[in-house]
Amino acid sequence: MYDVYKIREDFPILQEVLNGKPVAFLDTAASAQKPLAVLQKMRDIYTQSYANPHRGSYHFAEAITIEYEKARQTVQKFINAAIDKEIVFTRNATESINLVAATWGWQNLKAGDEVLISEAEHHANLVPWQNICEVTGAKLKVFAVSDDGDFVADNFEKALSNNTKLVAVTAMSNVLGTIFPVKDIIKKAHGVGAVALVDACQFAPHYPIDVQDWDCDFVAFSGHKIYGPTGIGVLYGKAEILQSMPPYQFGGDMIDNVTFEKTTFADIPARFEAGTAASVQAIGMAESMRYMQNIGFDNLIAHEKKLVDYTLSRLPEVPNLKIIGTAQNRGGVFSFDVKGIHPQDLAFVLNKENVAVRTGHHCAQPIVNRMGYTSLARASLGLYSTKEDIDALVNALLKAEKFFRES
Ligand code: ALA
Repeated sequence: MYDVYKIREDFPILQEVLNGKPVAFLDTAASAQKPLAVLQKMRDIYTQSYANPHRGSYHFAEAITIEYEKARQTVQKFINAAIDKEIVFTRNATESINLVAATWGWQNLKAGDEVLISEAEHHANLVPWQNICEVTGAKLKVFAVSDDGDFVADNFEKALSNNTKLVAVTAMSNVLGTIFPVKDIIKKAHGVGAVALVDACQFAPHYPIDVQDWDCDFVAFSGHKIYGPTGIGVLYGKAEILQSMPPYQFGGDMIDNVTFEKTTFADIPARFEAGTAASVQAIGMAESMRYMQNIGFDNLIAHEKKLVDYTLSRLPEVPNLKIIGTAQNRGGVFSFDVKGIHPQDLAFVLNKENVAVRTGHHCAQPIVNRMGYTSLARASLGLYSTKEDIDALVNALLKAEKFFRES
């Protein structure tokens, strides 16, 4: 039995009252709130066993090294990677994708090669590829989604060719909410000999990832979107591909042997983790994974499905509101426009009603433009979201729409 009100007790910030009213937090797609278990775990590390991992041999240093490597194993299990060495800790998904672009991309792309992405990518899964294509002479190709924001297999297959060296797609769009059939996309990418990377930032907070089932070569996601801390992210890479890649950054902890003449580098994943690790953040993220697993993905999915249906049934009550992204297979991200009202003005009124949504281009300008807008409002769900949050959103939107229409 999923008791969302009990779950909300784990999130102190959701108990905040502003101007005498509770807050409807509907911006989890930007960053999720953190449960006490995560905050407590990080506090315990800082107060009982903090030191720099992989360096000292005293008690604290050994304790945090063990916890840090245990966190890697937690991530391994969370996404069903074959071995823990396939997990690289990064700052966030953006850094994970930049790492692949700057190392694998630099090493493998050349003029005549193609990198294929979807039209719905976040800038983090677009700009690094654009940049490495410019540097190497490879071509960035984009396949279109449908007008309702759905994946179109035909568009993807037509864009795929023997020149495609990499396919980089989102598992769930942060603007449209569309869930992409990544397993199928990866299979087809492999069919032409391409490597496949999945941006799982929006997918990971809602659905289980099985990298072996997907058979993906790389997966990137961020800790802060899965109820963990900021400053930590994950790059999963198949061991043999990671092993073939040069380092991304250079410095402490990523070397094997250093002389003034020559440096040799550590094995994976240390080769990609230069400098002092964000160890406490990695441990906090592992705790957030345990938190989600304790609730159970089946429960998370069922709760979200009910709320998605509820949101889709209620939003059309607002006159002149259009939902942007109406694919059948979709998650709890709802971008919308209310005709005649700038999203920023809308957000201003919603904020007065303590309804927290994101507005703007959502770091995905091309897809927002393709849908015919420069800016959209977006409400997004988390495991703590309730029908009351959606009611507060709809009521505030009705109020805003009436206010702007009459003024
Ligand atoms: N990528 C995050 C979002 O969609 C920040 O809001």
